[in-house]
Amino acid sequence: MAIDRSARGGRSANVKDVAAAARVSLGTVSNVLNRPELVSAGTRHRVEEAMRELGFVRNESARQLRAGHSRTLAYVMLDASNPFFTDVARGIEDATENRDLSVFSCNSDNRADRELAYLTRLQQQRVQGILITPVNPNEPALEEIARQGTPIVIVDRVSDVAAHCSVAVDDAHGGRLAVEHLLDLGHQRIAFVGGPMRIGQVRDRLAGARQALQEAGRSPDELVVVETEALTADEGRSAGERIAGMAGRSRPTAAFCANDLLALGLLQQCVALGVGVPEELAIVGYDDIDFAALAAVPLTSVRQPRRELGRTAAELLLDEASNPAHEHQQILFTPELVARASTRRSPR
Ligand code: RIB
Repeated sequence: MAIDRSARGGRSANVKDVAAAARVSLGTVSNVLNRPELVSAGTRHRVEEAMRELGFVRNESARQLRAGHSRTLAYVMLDASNPFFTDVARGIEDATENRDLSVFSCNSDNRADRELAYLTRLQQQRVQGILITPVNPNEPALEEIARQGTPIVIVDRVSDVAAHCSVAVDDAHGGRLAVEHLLDLGHQRIAFVGGPMRIGQVRDRLAGARQALQEAGRSPDELVVVETEALTADEGRSAGERIAGMAGRSRPTAAFCANDLLALGLLQQCVALGVGVPEELAIVGYDDIDFAALAAVPLTSVRQPRRELGRTAAELLLDEASNPAHEHQQILFTPELVARASTRRSPR
């Protein structure tokens, strides 16, 4: 059956074009798409042939919107350039594989306005649920969206309200592990590199670092805090400049960084300035992203279970979307220290 494609002025074929080409009603085309058992084999063949000839692609999102929700989850991450978040996204996809579900990943870039725009669009798309590492875990819009019927799960941040499920990691424990490791290696003067302090994870990791000093009989104020404006490699390089510029014995012999991107930037700056790692400055990161082990000096890091975070968050969301008896859970994972070449017994 030869069909004239130019008749539509280049636009994609729709169900009306298919009905006209196959000489059937719109209802018959709809039945072929949604209830083929109601259509005779001959008519069904004619309609399917017209679809092939026209290059017709069904509008799945329109169908799902009519059904009230789509077969899609969304993950709104803070920073797509940070492998931590893409690893979490892979965990989410692990949970949705073989479940006829799609995952939309969105990058808020740490911007509340961009995050809000995504949340609005995702609601309009009738996604089954939204997983989010929010700029502000207590963003009022999150509770409103959940109240309107779109499940929300907070990932890697803990919300003050129990209006959602959440999965996170015990970051104070992680901070303690990092500094205990450096104290065990004999380091006396330790820096904490991280910021901004408005991020709860940074505050918790710093609090854990201070607790380790206190439990070792030292003053928490001995920690040299090098505050950064972001958790990025650029800020790690800047911290390296500041630490290298510290005079003599006031200069730390070890640094615990609030995430691996900071630690890798600090490591890179030490190499550029000729500061020996770990001989002059031992470095510990946080997340244990794949690049940590691949660094020029393999990085000691506090490992976050990234894919498990994503997988668990997605399972909670799917349960909330389908289980009338669902009860919210706040799940907290325990991090572990992975020691590598970037830390070694203190030289002094
Ligand atoms: O916000 C970025 C950081 O928060 C990541 O590196 C990870 O540590 C997450 O907890």
